[in-house]
Amino acid sequence: MCLTIPAKVLSVENSVAGSSVADITVEGSGGVRKIQAVELPGLKAGDWVLCAYDVAIRRISQTDAGEILALLEPKGHIDVSRLDREFLELLKSHAAGGLSKENIIRLLKTEDPLELETLFAEANTVRQAHLKDFFCIHGIVEFSNHCVRDCFYCGLRKGSADVRRYRMTPDEIAETAGDAVNRRGYKLIVLQSGDDFYYTDDMLADIIVRIKKICRVFVFMSVGERSLECYVRMKAAGASGALMRFETSNRALYDSIHPGQLLDKRLELLKGIKKLGYYLASGFLIGLPGQTEEAIAEDIITMKELGANMVSVGPFIPCQSTPLAGHPAGSAQMALKVTAVSRLFMPKAKIPVTTALETIESEEGRRLGLSSGANSLMFNLTPEKYRGHYRIYPDKYHGKEEIWENYGLFKEALSYRMLEKKMFEEFEK
Ligand code: 5AD
Repeated sequence: MCLTIPAKVLSVENSVAGSSVADITVEGSGGVRKIQAVELPGLKAGDWVLCAYDVAIRRISQTDAGEILALLEPKGHIDVSRLDREFLELLKSHAAGGLSKENIIRLLKTEDPLELETLFAEANTVRQAHLKDFFCIHGIVEFSNHCVRDCFYCGLRKGSADVRRYRMTPDEIAETAGDAVNRRGYKLIVLQSGDDFYYTDDMLADIIVRIKKICRVFVFMSVGERSLECYVRMKAAGASGALMRFETSNRALYDSIHPGQLLDKRLELLKGIKKLGYYLASGFLIGLPGQTEEAIAEDIITMKELGANMVSVGPFIPCQSTPLAGHPAGSAQMALKVTAVSRLFMPKAKIPVTTALETIESEEGRRLGLSSGANSLMFNLTPEKYRGHYRIYPDKYHGKEEIWENYGLFKEALSYRMLEKKMFEEFEK
């Protein structure tokens, strides 16, 4: 399920009677361009359209186009003449071979409103240049909240006595995924659980096979620190991606909040997963005790070294009955800075607005994230009866999704098939 920034039709060059394809010229945030319109009879200059991969596939009203633009576009014009030259040069250095660690730290440390606005706008421009206004919406099914780990920050840690534990059956998981794909138009589903070994490697592989049998979808697995063999099995069963954060690349910090776990083991597993050909999604937490800007800069560099395709970064949110219950939440502003710097540092990466950011900032978090370099959203597909029990942290945000549901779902038969084909080509590259 995907959303693109609307473009205005300037002219319709040739619209052959009886044909479903027409050549048109549109003006969007990327300037004026010639594209094709598919199955949009009667399209004329002045109309607004949504485009996917340079094909206009849906007409929308001017009012709705305005609403989407307001969600995604950065605010107004920035007067760069008021900016420090050194800052501007540093910001532009990403284009000339990448940002140094010192430059990343400098960007992460800025509190100056004009510098911040410029950083976010630059990230937004880089996102547009590399990803052509293409936003993806993914669905997550949280299928078990059992966990054998005791991470200090997480509400689902095995030591949390007040969690009502649940496990979805393979039937329930396949049904939930199938419905999201076949009825609602999702094309990428993340299956997430705690580190729960009740699900054997065989069971996980079987769940993937079942889902792939009933619908055409990318399946990403987020099942924690399992053996590499398990990841081999899941890949063979049809999984495309794996999502596992390393949480922090600072060894002392990692050790202090992950009893019985080793940072090196996690990083080795992530490298192994990448080698298997998975689309690798990883990331870290912001606002852990004693975490410095330098540590965050090292996290960003570690992401790139791992060859991660997707960068998932969110602020820490304190959760009762965990050892970090009294520790303050991570800053939303820092999460946005990390999003923007990650976009400059890894221009083509998929960067979702994480639920933790939305929890801190509600609807505004989504808009802020998307205009600071992020290009995807994760919607919750966990059945209602379980949702409240997947309490990694309290008061998890469940956003207003109407505009995304209205425009993110391309259900028109031809355009849907075309979009699906293009997406599969893109991912399988
Ligand atoms: N606040 C924010 N994020 C959290 N996670 C776990 N606990 C918290 C918390 N208290 C994140 C971890 C994990 C992901 C599934 O959820 O980064 O990898």
